[in-house]
Amino acid sequence: SPRNVRKICCIGAGYVGGPTCAVIADKNPDIEVTVVDLNEARIRAWNTDDLPVYEPELLKYVKSARDGADGERSPNLFFSTDVDAAVRAADLIFISVNTPTKYTGTGAGHACDLGYVESATRKIAEVSESDKIVIEKSTVPCKTAETIREILAATGRPGVRFEILSNPEFLAEGTAINDLLHPDRILIGSLRSERGFQAAEVLSSVYAAWIPRDRIMTINLWSSELTKIAANALLAQRISSVNALSAICEATGADIDEVAYACGKDTRIGPRMLKASVGFGGSCFKKDILSLAYISDTLHLPEVAAYWRSVVDINEYQKDRFTRRITKCLYHSLTNKRIAILGFAYKKNTGDTRETAAISVVNSLVLEQADIRIYDPRVKEEQIWQDLKATASDITLLKRRVSVCTSAYEACTDSHAAVILTEWDEFSNKDHSTTQGNSPPTATNGTAEDGNLSSRMDWQHVAGLMKKPMFVFDGRNVVDVDKLEALGFRVECIGKSG
Ligand code: NAD
Ligand code: UGA
Repeated sequence: SPRNVRKICCIGAGYVGGPTCAVIADKNPDIEVTVVDLNEARIRAWNTDDLPVYEPELLKYVKSARDGADGERSPNLFFSTDVDAAVRAADLIFISVNTPTKYTGTGAGHACDLGYVESATRKIAEVSESDKIVIEKSTVPCKTAETIREILAATGRPGVRFEILSNPEFLAEGTAINDLLHPDRILIGSLRSERGFQAAEVLSSVYAAWIPRDRIMTINLWSSELTKIAANALLAQRISSVNALSAICEATGADIDEVAYACGKDTRIGPRMLKASVGFGGSCFKKDILSLAYISDTLHLPEVAAYWRSVVDINEYQKDRFTRRITKCLYHSLTNKRIAILGFAYKKNTGDTRETAAISVVNSLVLEQADIRIYDPRVKEEQIWQDLKATASDITLLKRRVSVCTSAYEACTDSHAAVILTEWDEFSNKDHSTTQGNSPPTATNGTAEDGNLSSRMDWQHVAGLMKKPMFVFDGRNVVDVDKLEALGFRVECIGKSG
C-alpha cells in the first residue's frame, strides 16, 4: 500500500465522507478504510443498499468496496459507530464533519461553527496511541489547522506526534462520483517543514492510485484552507452576477440564456456556472460566503466583507423577485389558487434540500394563501415537511395549505400554475437538454442527449389537467417556451421578458 498506509479513518459519514471514502477504498484495495459517525441511523443506512445519500453510481462503488461485491476483492470499506477503535487503529484520519453557520452567540448567522471539528479533534487526541496524520477535509476558515494543532498538542498523549494537513473537497452533489474519479485538482496543504512535506507525500500517494500526479498540488496550509472557501465564493459570485443580469433582461427584452452563452464563449470567462436560476442553494455556498465575510470583518476589512455579502444578498433578492413575479402574473391574488411546485431539491440528481430555493418560495406562496402541491422525484415527503416546518412563520397555515404529491401530474391537476424549482430532466421538454452552464439557447438538434425521453413528463397531458389560463413559471429555464405556448401555456422564465 502507498507509503505504508494501512488504515484510514474518516470522521463524519455525510455527503463528503461517504462518497470520498468509497472511491478511496475502491482505488486502494490494500488500505482498510473505516468511516465513523455518531449518528447511528446514518451508519446503519450506510451498511444497507438504501444509502443515506443519493448520488448516481455511489451504490456501485460502496458495494464493491464494502461487500467485495465483484468477488475479486476482500471488503475494505467499513461504516461504524465505534469512533474510538477506528481512530486508534488509523494511520491517516480525515475530519469530514459538518461546519454549519453558527446560529447563536458571537457571529451568529455568519461565522462558521467549529464545534464539530473541535470535538472530533479532542477525540483524536484522547484515543491516539501512535503517530497520526490528521487531515482537514471539512471546509474551515483559514487558520483552523492552527486550532487543531493546539488542541492536539495540549490534550494528546506524551510522545504521540500529529501532523496536520488541509485537503479540501471540491465535489458537487449529483456528480460526486464523477468529480471524485476525475477531479480538476487535488489540493494538499501542509506546513513548510520536513515532516509537513513528508505527510503531504503520504496523502498524495493515496490519491496517486487513480489521479495523475500533475493534478495533485501540494501548497501551503493556509493557502489550501482559504482556496476552498475562495473557490466556492467565486463560483457563487458567477451565479449571482448572471442572476443580477437576468433582472435587467426581464426589463429590457434581452435573453439571459443568450447573454450567458455569448459571454461564456469568451475563453477568459468560460461557459460553466453561468446558468441563471431562481437562486443557488445547497449546504455550502451561502455558509462559506458568510464565513468569508465574517473573517473579513474580524480582520477589519469591512469593504471586503460587504463585497462578498452582496453575493448572498443578490441570491435572496432573486428568490424574492421570482415569487413576486408569480403573484403579479396571477392577477395579484393567490388566495385559494392551487400551485404545483415541480422540484424541491436544490439541484437535480440529489435528494438534498439544504438551503434549497424551494423552501423560501413555498413559504412565501403559503403566506399569499395559495394551495401548494409539491412534487420531487427524489426528496422524501418527510424531508419536505421537516424543511418547511423549520422555517414557516405559521405552522397551522402551512399544514392547511401544503400537500406533497407522488407525481408531477398529481401536483398539476387543477392547478393555476406550475412552478419549476429544480432542473430535473423529467420537467424539461427541450430537445437538447443541458443544465450546468451553457448550451446554445436555441439548440434544436434532434433527440435528447440523456436518452431519457421516456421518463419525461408529457406537457400536452398536463395542459388537459390544469385550470385556465395556465401558467408555467420556469425557475430553471429548462422548458422550450415555444412548444409550451403552442400547447396554450403562458410561460415566464428567468431573465426573459414575457
Ligand atoms: P454532513 O452533515 O452530511 O455530514 C457530517 C457528518 O459528521 C454527520 O453525519 C455528523 O453526524 C457527523 N459528525 C459531526 N460531528 C461528529 C463527531 N464529533 N464524531 C463523529 N461524527 C460526527 O456534512 P457534509 O455535507 O458531508 O459536509 C462535511 C464538510 O464538507 C463540511 O465542512 C462541508 O462544508 C464540506 N463540503 C461539503 C460538500 C457537499 O457537497 N456537501 C462538498 C465539499 C465540501
Ligand atoms: C458546490 C461546488 O460546485 C463544489 O465545488 C463544492 O465542493 C461544494 O459546493 C461544496 O463545497 O459543498 P454543490 O453545491 O453541490 O457544489 O452544487 P453546484 O453544482 O455548485 O450548485 C450549487 C447551486 O447553484 C445549486 O442550487 C445549483 O442549482 C445552482 N447553480 C449552479 C445555478 O443556479 N447556476 C449554475 O450555473 C450552477
